[in-house]
Amino acid sequence: MSESLSKPEGTLSLQTIAMPADTNWSGDVFGGWIVSQMDLAGAIHAERFSKGRCATISINQMTFLVPVKVGDVISCYTKILKVGNTSIQMQIEVWDSHDDSRLPKRVTEGVFTFVAVDAQGAKRQIPEQSKQRFLAQVSQV
Ligand SMILES: CC(C)(COP(=O)(O)OP(=O)(O)OC[C@H]1O[C@@H](n2cnc3c(N)ncnc32)[C@H](O)[C@@H]1OP(=O)(O)O)[C@@H](O)C(=O)NCCC(=O)NCCS
Repeated sequence: MSESLSKPEGTLSLQTIAMPADTNWSGDVFGGWIVSQMDLAGAIHAERFSKGRCATISINQMTFLVPVKVGDVISCYTKILKVGNTSIQMQIEVWDSHDDSRLPKRVTEGVFTFVAVDAQGAKRQIPEQSKQRFLAQVSQV
């Protein structure tokens, strides 16, 4: 993924603030906390898109570019890359802004895959309407 991109890509699916409890001994925020925010953001988008529950099946190509500090505002942007029969592959970027109004910077990115599941946790088909909406959006780009 390109370092040169200067703007977030996708939908703003989650925003939160890094708290003291989320840090390691150096005062930087734990990578695991950031991954869990990305997972939540992706699940919100995947569940809206597939109109039901989703489970994370894989996390790939994670890159941590710069550390996050306490008090930073974290914004997770999600963009669907691919839709299968039951799965949704999503690019998730995390951007960090401080309250001193410096420009936000991209701190982390990764590719997550979610599978649509039913109430019992068994995989289910992505609704045809959602697939068609995605294909229409992609063809416009
Ligand atoms: C999600 C789950 C129900 C899927 O059932 P499954 O029988 O393993 O599903 P399949 O192997 O048929 O794969 C389902 C889809 O995921 C895709 N997939 C499977 N493994 C994958 C992987 N490692 N990376 C990306 N996609 C993957 C398949 O290609 C398929 O996509 P498609 O239907 O769009 O073609 C099951 O794996 C599960 O419950 N996993 C645990 C999920 C979980 O608890 N997540 C939270 C982690 S704490």
